[in-house]
Amino acid sequence: MPTPFSQPEKPLNSFAPRLLDWFETDGRHDLPWQQHQTDRPNPYIVWLSEVMLQQTQVKTVLPYFARFMDSFPTVQDLAAAEWDTIAEHWAGMGYYARARNLHKGAKQLVDVINETGDYPQTLAAWEAISGVGPSTAGAIMAMGLHKYGVICDGNVKRVLTRWAAIDGDITKSATTKQLWVLAERLTPKENSGLFAQAMMDMGATLCVRRSPNCQLCPLREDCIAHAEGRETDYPVKAKKKPKPSKFSNALIIENNDAEVLWLQRPDNGIWGGLWSLPLEFVEKVTANKATKLAEAQPKKLQVSSNEKVYETEFTTAEQIIHEWLEENKLVAESVSNTLLDDAPIKHSLTHFHWYLQPQKLVINEAKSTELNEKLSAAQIAFKWLDKQKARDSLGLPRAMIKIIEV
Ligand code: ADE
Repeated sequence: MPTPFSQPEKPLNSFAPRLLDWFETDGRHDLPWQQHQTDRPNPYIVWLSEVMLQQTQVKTVLPYFARFMDSFPTVQDLAAAEWDTIAEHWAGMGYYARARNLHKGAKQLVDVINETGDYPQTLAAWEAISGVGPSTAGAIMAMGLHKYGVICDGNVKRVLTRWAAIDGDITKSATTKQLWVLAERLTPKENSGLFAQAMMDMGATLCVRRSPNCQLCPLREDCIAHAEGRETDYPVKAKKKPKPSKFSNALIIENNDAEVLWLQRPDNGIWGGLWSLPLEFVEKVTANKATKLAEAQPKKLQVSSNEKVYETEFTTAEQIIHEWLEENKLVAESVSNTLLDDAPIKHSLTHFHWYLQPQKLVINEAKSTELNEKLSAAQIAFKWLDKQKARDSLGLPRAMIKIIEV
């Protein structure tokens, strides 16, 4: 009987046993979050690690995971933690929305546990937790509860598009659906957790993006991409537009005690909830290597055509500081004279490259008191801390650490 897949029945049926045999002998069995060797899996460990592994590689996650488990051994500990402590533990892993979702998710999980006496037990209930999408929910069902669950994350998509030569663009929902159907078809009803772990390992160690190690692959004999020598043509993905660049001054405002002003960023937007130096987004200057970033004009709030951009780019605190500096004719000096294109700090975020120019301004006691009053009156969260203390206690984004090291 024909199947809806480009692979015949026989390879479809033998996929899981071949993969599991390979995993048993050649897979990784010592990752600290793995639960396949215990009869009593811990869903907290699987949930925490899966969120960390969503956009970050295993080797980067390992020390972070260890610190999280040390400081927050249970979901109750994580839910009860202060956001600043979590931010400090997460600092450097990027994609900070994940950390905020993790905190929110921990609180939601504690609510479920208090109500029902246990972790969520269904796919839908896990998908209702902040930061948990369909594949993470499937992974938690399968690996964290040892129930039936299907995963179809980036690694799995790469393995399956190659094996079944799926030519559709994986960013399109029709292709995503097709891949989910195939993943469901291949996942055994029993031991889906072991299968999920094996698929992840296959994607991470053999069926890697650039040079897959097909010689060791248990699926090689019927992998269509391999037969055609086209492994690296998969997965098909629409080319991304080049990222735009944005430019900002990062203000190191220092008081008489060599303490620097730090602002907590609002929850929405870049580095939501984290601490940073006050930033001034500057007009994107036409690429003229002779133009110093320091000479570029900060965007003016009053320009109505720029309002939208402004709203998303300047926080209330930064507006207050910007206006206060102008009123007082205080000018921060560039810490280096680097040309615009070689600004010392280049930081790449999901949607743009960000060039940050450190600028320093030392203010006297009277001025710092005045600024404190302005910020307090507007209920801004701010702190004066020397660079070392800020580094040790605030959980700064990596770009901020680079700046204070300049
Ligand atoms: N990537 C996502 N989840 C993973 C896991 N549990 N083990 C290894 N790599 C992963």
